Amino acid sequence: MTEPHQGPERTEVREVPDPRPGEGQVSIDVGHAGLNFIDVMARRGDPGYAAEWPYRPGLEVAGTVRELGAGVDGLAVGQPVAGFTRGGGLAEVAVADARLVAPLPAGVSTAVAAAAPLMLCTALLLLTDVTRLQPGEKVLMHSASGGVGGAVAQLVPVLGGGVRVGTVGLASKLDDAAAAGWDVALVRDEHLVAAVRSAVGAVDVILDPSGTSMIDVDLEVAAPGARIALFGNPGGGRPAPLPPLGRLIGGNVALAGFSMSGLAAAAPHRAASALRRVLDLLADRTLDLAVTEVGGLERVAATHQLLADGRGAGKYVTAVP
Ligand SMILES: NC(=O)c1ccc[n+]([C@@H]2O[C@H](COP(=O)([O-])OP(=O)(O)OC[C@H]3O[C@@H](n4cnc5c(N)ncnc54)[C@H](OP(=O)(O)O)[C@@H]3O)[C@@H](O)[C@H]2O)c1
Repeated sequence: MTEPHQGPERTEVREVPDPRPGEGQVSIDVGHAGLNFIDVMARRGDPGYAAEWPYRPGLEVAGTVRELGAGVDGLAVGQPVAGFTRGGGLAEVAVADARLVAPLPAGVSTAVAAAAPLMLCTALLLLTDVTRLQPGEKVLMHSASGGVGGAVAQLVPVLGGGVRVGTVGLASKLDDAAAAGWDVALVRDEHLVAAVRSAVGAVDVILDPSGTSMIDVDLEVAAPGARIALFGNPGGGRPAPLPPLGRLIGGNVALAGFSMSGLAAAAPHRAASALRRVLDLLADRTLDLAVTEVGGLERVAATHQLLADGRGAGKYVTAVP
C-alpha cells in the first residue's frame, strides 16, 4: 500500500528483499495469510494502523519457520506454525515476534490456521477475557456475517453460551448470517430494538464493532449485568462520544474496549495463549471454520475492496505464492 487511499488502486504486489528476523523474532515462509477489515482501515490511513508508508498489510499468517532470530528457542526451522504479524503478513516471507507464534497441531491446514491469530483469537477473547460469557447467556453481535462474526457464532456454544442474535447492515446478508450459525439474524434498521426484544428479550453479552453508532441500541437491549464490548470503527473518522455515565450506572451495564494488536503488544503471553487454544479447538474439530481462498496475492487488493464495500461474507485467506 503505497499511500493512504480509499480504493484498491494504491495496493501493489512488489518484489522486495526477504525480511530477516531480529532478536526475539522468527521469519516464516508463508503458506496462507489472512485478510482482515483492519487492513482496509490501514489502507485508508485511519490513525493508529499503518506505522509507515509504503505499508505492508497482513496481520496473521500460517506457514513454516524459515529462520530464527537471536535468542529464540522453542521453535525450529521448518516447523509448521501460525503467528501474529505486525503488518507484512500478506507476503511470501513474514517476520513475527517469536512469542506470538505457535506450533500448528497435526491436522490443521495453513489455510484455516491463517485465520487463527487475529480473527479467531479476537472472537475467543471477546467472549472470554472481555465479556466473560457465562453458561446460557444470550449474545448479540453486530456485523455478524463477516469473519469475526462467523467465528463468534461457532464459539458461543463451545463456551456454553445461549441464544445467538446477529445483526447485519443489509437484508441481503441475512442468509449469510444464518448460514454462519446465528440463531436469529436481524437487519440493523430503526426497528432493531423491538425486533431483538421480541425475538429473545434482553441480552447479556453485546459484541459491537460499529464504533459508537449502535451504543444506544446496545443499552436499550442490555439486561441488568450485561457486558458490552466495543472493538471497531468501520466508518473511520471520529466516533461520537460514549453515553453518559448515568446510563451505565442506571442500567447496571459494563462497557469494555478491545484491541487484539494492543493486547499482542502489551501482553503477548495472553495473545499466544489464546492462539494455542483456538488452534487446539481446530485440531480436535470443536471448531470447523470455513474460509474462502481468494486466489493469490494479486487478488488481495480486490478482496480488500469487497470488505471495504461491506460486501464480504465469512473469512478470506490467500495462499502464498
Ligand atoms: N479490535 C480488534 O482487535 C479487532 C480485531 C478484528 C476485527 N475487528 C473489527 O471487527 C469487525 C469485523 O472484522 P472482520 O475482519 O471480520 O470484517 P468483516 O466483518 O468481514 O467486514 C466488516 C463488516 O463491517 C460492517 N460495516 C459497518 N460499517 C461499515 C463501513 N462503513 N464500511 C464497511 N463495512 C462496514 C459490514 O457488515 P454489516 O453491513 O453486516 O454491518 C462489513 O461486512 C471490523 O469492524 C474490524 O475492524 C476488531
